[in-house]
Amino acid sequence: MTPATASDASSLARDFDLRHLSPAFYANPYPVYHALRTHEPIRRMPDGSLFLTRFRDVQAVYRDPKTFSSDKTVEFKPKYGDSPLYAHHTTSLVFNDPPRHTRVRKLIAGALTARAIAAMEPGLIRLVDGLLDVAARRRRIDLIGEFASAIPVEIIGNLLDVPHDEREPLRDWSLAILGALEPALSDAQLERGNRAVSEFVDYLRELVGRRRREPGDPQHDVLTRLIQGEAGGEQLSEAELLQNCIFILNAGHETTTNLIGNGLVTLTDWPEQRAALLEEPSLIEPAVEECLRYESSNQLGNRMATVDTEIGGVEVARGTPVTLCIGAANRDPEQFAQPDRFDIRRDPNRHLAFGFGIHQCAGLSLARLEARIAIGRFVQRFPTYCLAGEPTRGGRVRFRGFAAVPVDVTPKAGPASRRAP
Ligand code: HEM
Repeated sequence: MTPATASDASSLARDFDLRHLSPAFYANPYPVYHALRTHEPIRRMPDGSLFLTRFRDVQAVYRDPKTFSSDKTVEFKPKYGDSPLYAHHTTSLVFNDPPRHTRVRKLIAGALTARAIAAMEPGLIRLVDGLLDVAARRRRIDLIGEFASAIPVEIIGNLLDVPHDEREPLRDWSLAILGALEPALSDAQLERGNRAVSEFVDYLRELVGRRRREPGDPQHDVLTRLIQGEAGGEQLSEAELLQNCIFILNAGHETTTNLIGNGLVTLTDWPEQRAALLEEPSLIEPAVEECLRYESSNQLGNRMATVDTEIGGVEVARGTPVTLCIGAANRDPEQFAQPDRFDIRRDPNRHLAFGFGIHQCAGLSLARLEARIAIGRFVQRFPTYCLAGEPTRGGRVRFRGFAAVPVDVTPKAGPASRRAP
């Protein structure tokens, strides 16, 4: 869907509406993002909100949380009414402003320490190697269902020490709750999302009760740490504790699954980059950064103007909702040379995949570690892996990824190619 002429590009920009997107957009949104950035970088949508595609505008909004609020108590009321989804999203730290955000963030960041994350590495390697052994035996696997999604579910489950035999519903709850953040929602999606929050809260209330009776080691168990709060300092209320645990479990699932899935699929499209990674495994660190930039698993962020202000010289009235298009900002030629080129050696690579400023992702070190181990070990173990059929897109605009990707990991002679012969 690359526009042939400047006027095609300008009509692509003019016709853009986040609530009415074509299948071509879901397959490849970048030509539309380029058209918007060129012709209407601060695009007013039919509902009055603004859609930003330039790196500098997106970053400027992230930098100024006073003028651009994350609080969703007003915005989400018409969308969710008085419902479990409303209670969940408006109590999650990502949708709170200081001072509430500051105290919850401090507790969560204090629990996700570098030491706690480093301690997860040996278990993560064992988990990934076990999944690779199964893949080697099966030869054809679904990269998402049988590899990428199995990793964060385990890691985040370990983080809160959820017993193994209770983890099964976590992924579906998470998909249903995050799915309800899409710009356009069906009644069925709303119903699923609300049911997922209610079931998740019931489950966590019970888990928290057990953990209060038998606390874990707060050095390793994030849930115990959040329950106990800071000695003589901040404590979370029951609602804050339950809703933020749901948020942590959700925040780390689909985004990380998609980072691993998107990264491994992108490497099949760029064989010379895959060959470079195979030859120099230490490139995995910048390669993960490039996967984050090139196919950002979280494509959109949202803010609301708290005062009359301006963005990039355009006047913005108080109360205007603003959508920050991370996916477009990360392909902005003003910030990244040849932005549509996937280059695992890209340096500098100051992308916005984890957001920026006070709400920047609190789990970014964990996500990076998971991706380094999962993508790095997959590529080294199956150097000639290739697609064994057409991948199925997840069909979300906010969370970009695949629902299913058939891959063939049978060893083959010769250079790696995208598809099975
Ligand atoms: C590739 C994986 C991930 C991506 C792309 C990602 C992306 C993001 C982004 C863009 C934000 C900022 C939202 C905003 O400012 O509006 C964010 C916030 C957050 N993320 Fe992540 N995330 C990932 C993985 C994780 C993991 C593994 C965890 C937890 C273990 C996590 C926990 C959080 C938390 C707690 C926040 C809220 C921070 C705050 O509001 O202060 N994320 N994430």
